[in-house]
Amino acid sequence: MKKLNDFNNENSNTSDNPTFDSVLNVRLSRRGLLMGSVASVGTAVLGGVALTACGGGSVVAATPVATAVALGFGAVAKSLADQVTVPAGYTMSVLYALGDPILGGASAFKNDGSDSDFENRAGDHHDGMEWYGLSTTGTPSLTSTDRGLLAINHEATTDERSSFFIHTTGGTATLPRPAAEVDKEVAIHGISVVEVKKSTDKWAYVKDSAFNFRLTPLTDIEMAGPVRGNTLMATKYSTNGTRTRGTLNNCGTGKTPWGSFLTGEENWAGYFFRSATDNAARGNDKSVTSLNRYGRSQGAASRHGWETGGSVDKYVRWNNSKLGTSTDGSDDYRNELNGMGYIVEIDAYDKTRTAKKRSAMGRFAHESAAFSVPAAGKPLGIYMGDDARNEYIYKFVTTANWDAADASPANRMAAGDKYLDSGKLYVAKFNSDGTGQWIELSISNPTIAAYAGYAFADQADVCVNSRLAADAVGATKMDRPEWCAVNPANGEIYYTLTNNSNRNVNATGSSQLVPDSANPRAYTDMKGASAQNGNPNGHILRVKEGAAGAAATTLTWDVYAFGAQSDADTGKVNLSNLTSDQDFSSPDGLVFSPSTGIMWIQTDDGAYTDVTNCMMLAAMPGQVGDGGKKTLSYTKTDGSTLAVDTYIGKAPTATTLKRFLVGAAACEITGLCETPDGKAMFINIQHPGETTKMTDVTDPTKYTSQWPSNAGYGLGKRPRSATIVITKNDGGKIGT
Ligand code: FEO
Ligand code: CA
Ligand code: CA
Ligand code: CA
Repeated sequence: MKKLNDFNNENSNTSDNPTFDSVLNVRLSRRGLLMGSVASVGTAVLGGVALTACGGGSVVAATPVATAVALGFGAVAKSLADQVTVPAGYTMSVLYALGDPILGGASAFKNDGSDSDFENRAGDHHDGMEWYGLSTTGTPSLTSTDRGLLAINHEATTDERSSFFIHTTGGTATLPRPAAEVDKEVAIHGISVVEVKKSTDKWAYVKDSAFNFRLTPLTDIEMAGPVRGNTLMATKYSTNGTRTRGTLNNCGTGKTPWGSFLTGEENWAGYFFRSATDNAARGNDKSVTSLNRYGRSQGAASRHGWETGGSVDKYVRWNNSKLGTSTDGSDDYRNELNGMGYIVEIDAYDKTRTAKKRSAMGRFAHESAAFSVPAAGKPLGIYMGDDARNEYIYKFVTTANWDAADASPANRMAAGDKYLDSGKLYVAKFNSDGTGQWIELSISNPTIAAYAGYAFADQADVCVNSRLAADAVGATKMDRPEWCAVNPANGEIYYTLTNNSNRNVNATGSSQLVPDSANPRAYTDMKGASAQNGNPNGHILRVKEGAAGAAATTLTWDVYAFGAQSDADTGKVNLSNLTSDQDFSSPDGLVFSPSTGIMWIQTDDGAYTDVTNCMMLAAMPGQVGDGGKKTLSYTKTDGSTLAVDTYIGKAPTATTLKRFLVGAAACEITGLCETPDGKAMFINIQHPGETTKMTDVTDPTKYTSQWPSNAGYGLGKRPRSATIVITKNDGGKIGT
């Protein structure tokens, strides 16, 4: 659900590439937070070879393409019902919900706000998720289909001052926050690793598995890569800047070719606080520029007020004001924010191994981390997006070449050291002729080294301030890059661009942008009587690397599909001719099934939610260049014309794109993994009922969702984020 003034919909790229503009949109006042003002496919086979013209006629190299076989299920209709709907012939079961006990003999979840000890239970807001198979003897297995571990992100909690279901009466909406409430809220963030098992055709999680663990915002984590030990990282917790505590707002995921788990830290910046006089205390140094560029300003309220929980270090660390007298920050938490915003690597199989933040991959509002198809002797590419309005698309290219022997390494974290601590970080620029460039973010680049907007000290500074480095090189501002995924059939990369209220045909400023080729739509979508402007429905961009593959610095691109309601204007809005079995808004989660080649599209929408709950669709996409060029013509208020060339993929057909699932009320659909045979699919239903008002927290009749209790799962009627498992009644692969 997208709200106004939403900590999950940040907007701080006011850069006027290449000149940094330090004006910041401060979105929330401290009072606003405290007073509770929430403004509110069949089987993919390698088939024919296509030679196609892309864009202005540039020829794309011949590529084996996935040949679509019809998706073998009946499309699910849009729905506002408070249930999870799957196609006929499929079964959905709830597997693992907020509060479920997994450690330390924790009791059954009462779900009335009285439960505590969340460090022993499932966290909240289940998000990205990966599967790690286990053999019958409990060793890592690439083939097991009935026993494994799910590594699950717990992104956030329903939400600060509107519907706080984990507290008996909804939580304290004034400062200071009670320590006991803060402790619960902290503990429901982070990661779960939980064993799941199938016996007699029924999946369940294993409550007392020795593999189970939680990582929370208080867990000790190592800093790795260029920032390790840098002066930007010194804190009272780690005076030499080599460690930090915890991971936060974990959104998308990745699964490394060597079998570890990657999790992206997304909207972490809002959890921290700096005093209203801090800029002066710091002498208005460059840390102020960094703070603003990551969407924060001095005096702005933190998301939950955790810094007010008490004088103990675990609360004080959320206060990033300069409180100490040291010159390097080793006696306070003025540098604490520099420890968040990374891709974090975790060994899901071994809870004794310390997680590592892989700083070489940049610091921003990370979503997923999608690997190129590994090729022996070649570098790996890892694709990433920065989810905030007008932010960028990135990739990391490893220095080390892929060694297939690393597919089952003795030490997965050591393999991570090898591939993820050294490499090149790039940001994308998309041109109006359907081509583009990956521009390296290196301190060796004079444009970055001499950037007038921020004085980078070294490569660690470039990693910590990736957004500023990307501003310097003139990267393309995108419509909120969410997840990305790589098509295993041809290596092309798909990026969801979820929406952007900042696209405006008449834009003149640096945060409001005119439509451009890769973000070509600005239109009005009505939600009831309310007009939603910009690009409220989002689109899915795809990228084909140049001849050097994952290491290429050139690319071609087109738009796989534009989100739209099916009755919208097919000349301006519904450019992909979506039908009522296919129409969607605000694509977010995106995963290719390794077993079927189906691309699964998940939505986190607030635009089409007057008509339907969020959903998941199955797609058999084609390839970059399978459609054609289209010029969109806009008339500005001054009477002049804005013509925007774009490149649109071949329109999906009834057999290549279909709605597979519709979620419960006021939820987001996110996260997807499956058993290696493709016959059990796990997905997450995040924050059902999040539109409930906090004042209604003790009145179930006023909840906007009672899922999953209304599906027969668990005690109490408070809605809960949960992992579900989907199977096909005939035992077949999901989606076929
Ligand atoms: Fe957590 Fe941008 O999705
Ligand atoms: Ca509408
Ligand atoms: Ca998301
Ligand atoms: Ca969400």
